[in-house]
Amino acid sequence: MSYIPNENRYGNMIYRRCGRSGLQLPSISLGLWHNFGGVDDYANGRKVILKAFDHGITHFDFANNYGPPYGSAELNFGKLLREDLSAYRDQLVISTKAGYDMWPGPYGNWGSRKYLLASLDQSLERMGLPYVDIFYSHRPDPDTPLEETMGALDYAVRSGKALYAGISNYPAPLARRAFRILRELGTPCLIHQPKYSLLERWVEAELLEELEKEGVGCIAFSPLAQGMLTGKYLKGIPEGSRAQRADGALQAESITPEILEKINRWNRVALERGQTLAQMAISWLLKDPRVTSVLIGARTVEQLEENLKAAYAGGFSKEELNELNA
Ligand SMILES: NC(=O)c1ccc[n+]([C@@H]2O[C@H](COP(=O)([O-])OP(=O)(O)OC[C@H]3O[C@@H](n4cnc5c(N)ncnc54)[C@H](OP(=O)(O)O)[C@@H]3O)[C@@H](O)[C@H]2O)c1
Repeated sequence: MSYIPNENRYGNMIYRRCGRSGLQLPSISLGLWHNFGGVDDYANGRKVILKAFDHGITHFDFANNYGPPYGSAELNFGKLLREDLSAYRDQLVISTKAGYDMWPGPYGNWGSRKYLLASLDQSLERMGLPYVDIFYSHRPDPDTPLEETMGALDYAVRSGKALYAGISNYPAPLARRAFRILRELGTPCLIHQPKYSLLERWVEAELLEELEKEGVGCIAFSPLAQGMLTGKYLKGIPEGSRAQRADGALQAESITPEILEKINRWNRVALERGQTLAQMAISWLLKDPRVTSVLIGARTVEQLEENLKAAYAGGFSKEELNELNA
């Protein structure tokens, strides 16, 4: 059946400016690392993406190797764009990245100009697009000069294959250098994509301050720690969950008794706030204006709809923050 988007979709979402750029992003964005690959049910993935768009999620995040198999999330999204969203391309922000393992040999990984630009061409081909909105260096490469990696991002933008440049997983000192190089090249960095959640708070030491100073946006990935911050693992490992699936990136061993104790405690705070743990974990990130968008994954429409409610939750009291930090 042909898709007709919800007419009221823009009334249902809060948009936040990405650093000091002209671009606004939805406070909640959807990432397709899992749940939309060749091994997944396409009809279900389609439902989740279209429901997200119906709720005002305009930003969809990819990397070259999202699947499995590698590339299949972009390939599936290309089909969805053609069949359902072709009339809405200018209402979408589509991002992709290169930096991790993609194809064999010395030119299919890390941060060389050779790899990044070939990978971007392949991503565009898979999605059937002339350009993506954001192209990222997915991780720093210790063996490639930063000037070369940033030069590739600058070229991607200048050649019209990307509208903006971003970096992901760069520690603060390296991010600072990357911002300077990109600024000097005339392609200011739009956004940094770090892992950030109640369980993973490295960005608070230095990075967030740096981003604010530089006017670079922040999109927090794995805000639910791949599902651990949802309460779903409090009573064991449910069937079909990421920790149970052979192709899931969450190892069952990482759900330790210490983590379960924290989750239990946080779950109680969430319930007192009238939220689920997932909603509170997302609201907690959104309380910081330096966080432009929270990049969730969702396997089902129900998960998506539950998480979306976090965008409207109020702030946190001092007591709640103390309890969460304890
Ligand atoms: N730049 C990078 O290096 C990098 C790395 C990782 C991710 N990312 C980006 O960030 C995006 C999100 O990462 P993520 O998938 O790890 O995010 P996440 O939101 O932390 O985890 C998503 C998973 O949590 C579970 N979940 C979500 N909502 C739920 C709910 N309401 N109730 C119960 N379970 C729920 C689902 O797992 P189940 O399948 O178990 O139900 C879902 O697949 C990725 O798609 C990707 O775009 C970027």
